[in-house]
Amino acid sequence: MNLVIVGAQWGDEGKGKIVDYLARDADTVIRYSGGANAGHTIVVDDATYKLHLVPSGIIYPGTTVVLGSSMVIDPQSLMEELSRLEAAGISWKGRVFISDRAHLVLPGYKERDREKDSARKTPLGTTGRGIGITYALKAFREGVRFADVFDSEMFIDLDEKDKAFIDSYRSSLKSMVFDVTAFMSGQKNKRVLFEGAQGVLLDLDCGTYPYVSSGCSSSFGAAAGTGIGPRDLDGVIGVFKAYTTRVGNGPFPSEFREDRDGNLGHTIREIGHEYGTTTGRPRRCGYLDLVSLRYACRTASIDSLALTHLDVYDTFDEIKACVGYRYKGREIADFPTSNEVLSSAEPVLKSFPGWKQDISSCGTYDSLPERARTYVSFIESFTAVPADIISVGSNRSQTILRKSFWS
Ligand code: GDP
Ligand code: IMO
Ligand code: MG
Repeated sequence: MNLVIVGAQWGDEGKGKIVDYLARDADTVIRYSGGANAGHTIVVDDATYKLHLVPSGIIYPGTTVVLGSSMVIDPQSLMEELSRLEAAGISWKGRVFISDRAHLVLPGYKERDREKDSARKTPLGTTGRGIGITYALKAFREGVRFADVFDSEMFIDLDEKDKAFIDSYRSSLKSMVFDVTAFMSGQKNKRVLFEGAQGVLLDLDCGTYPYVSSGCSSSFGAAAGTGIGPRDLDGVIGVFKAYTTRVGNGPFPSEFREDRDGNLGHTIREIGHEYGTTTGRPRRCGYLDLVSLRYACRTASIDSLALTHLDVYDTFDEIKACVGYRYKGREIADFPTSNEVLSSAEPVLKSFPGWKQDISSCGTYDSLPERARTYVSFIESFTAVPADIISVGSNRSQTILRKSFWS
């Protein structure tokens, strides 16, 4: 069975937590896109793990993890991350594999990424991890794949510095690089999780272009990025927060504004610890945007939702969600493509009474306060997708599962 976990907003929805939670019963976790621009956090009891490249199944000792074909991987960052895991008591040897079709991020790309972004009229606010440069070189057919590292002759011209960099990682990569297509054909009766990075709204095609990342971060990337066909995917779980966040620039119609919303942005950022896992940048915060969530559900075939950070609203008297946009006096119900519309649209807000109760130890849906369930039910009816997982805290144990995914 093949289950995709995709971010349904602009990233940082809690994908790492949800993948880790579901990985308990999975054989394999395969990450399908992006690179070290991602930061996926897993909290198990007192231990916190921050992953950038390694799939979030790694914490369970028996799980095989794979870095898929559409990923862009800096071998230095990968080896450093694996060393950190080893130091934290996670043994990884023999169960971490890399698709031979994945592309390498070479040392100079990160600097080029930062230079290129700061030279833009309006910078995107990239993570500076060389992601856009690597995907651009791939599209330009000038990239280096992990398979190429082991060819006796490189087909792409590289300078001596890059060649020396590759030489220094060849032996440590040797036992990890494999043909993911062949591997996947042996996974037919296994439980496989496909871990997305970024989110639908940061996808190159479906997202808020050009304020997006450069990989295929929507659910359809799961097939391309792992060497299977789209009909082999059995379900898509869309992860989203009870509110919305975004790092970097770009339109954000439901963003909290001081003149309208007082210090809500600051309050949510502090209660939710909304600072980037990769860059430490404060995340922009806003109301839950149901217009974009419904768009994400539709374009990414999301058939189950995983709602996270519901606990962040525990102390609020009132909670609002964006149910439409107002632009030039008319209401818009569908997520627009135009940046001009997205940037000047005003959110149409619906208000819900707060539950004013600590829900962080609720273990079942029925034990949630009625007002919290009303908020969840509204989201379900607006998107027409059930919220099958509800997260009430960062810890693995703070998760409410409303259905079994592996049957
Ligand atoms: P990802 O990129 O989608 O994996 O998300 P990140 O790990 O970048 O950011 C999510 C942050 O929220 C992490 O610090 C998580 O530990 C934390 N988190 C996840 N789920 C919850 C939740 O339900 N409640 C709270 N308060 N924090 C959560
Ligand atoms: P996870 O997997 C949040 C954003 C950057 C920037 C834009 C382009 O943790 O959800 P890039 O370096 O990819 O060229 O930057 O995309 N971005 C993310 N925002 N979470 C992420 O990953 C992100 N990966 C990229 O902030 O706005
Ligand atoms: Mg993140």
